[in-house]
Amino acid sequence: MVKTMNFGNVMVLAMALAAVSMMLHTTEAAEYVVGDDLGWTVPPGGAASYASWAAKYSFVVDDILYFNFTEGEHTVALVTKEKYEICNTTDPLSKLDGPIALRFLDSDTYYFTCTFAGHCTGGQKVAVYIAPSANTPSPSPGVAPHPPAAASLPFTFVSKKLGFRKV
Ligand SMILES: *[C@@H]1O[C@H](CO)[C@@H](O)[C@H](O)[C@H]1NC(C)=O
Ligand SMILES: *[C@@H]1O[C@H](CO)[C@@H](O)[C@H](O)[C@H]1NC(C)=O
Repeated sequence: MVKTMNFGNVMVLAMALAAVSMMLHTTEAAEYVVGDDLGWTVPPGGAASYASWAAKYSFVVDDILYFNFTEGEHTVALVTKEKYEICNTTDPLSKLDGPIALRFLDSDTYYFTCTFAGHCTGGQKVAVYIAPSANTPSPSPGVAPHPPAAASLPFTFVSKKLGFRKV
């Protein structure tokens, strides 16, 4: 069968695969604003606020979380579980000073907080469990599998090993 395939057939097959791949990705990846309307801040409701936000949703690999805040008022820091629990914001795994959209490459629990003094203890911290995606093969490690969902979202992906990466 391969022998009889001419160049045209190969092109059609490649285009069909690309189309299927695009359809799969657009139906799978979802975008969430961390905290919904509250955004990323010291929540008036304290530490339980982001826990209840995260509990409302089921995140899977490839989903995007948007941390929405005013640059200079907060940061987004990826930290270890140990540091998350005691609000140690020294030497986070990764940190960004402005709003960021993160696409998650690996299934894992990710711990985020803000490095401004008092913000973590004030409840600005969220643990997010990203479940494996049932429908797609895992992306190759270290490779951004798709372009950002929206051009307005300046940054993308995150994994435990790589931290934040600019695309
Ligand atoms: C981000 O926050 C600003 C200021 O609170 C708000 O106007 C905007 O709608 C928010 N964006 C999203 C996507 O939630
Ligand atoms: C906080 O983290 C820093 C950097 O990893 C470490 O040197 C320090 O001992 C930690 N502090 C506490 C109270 O655990």
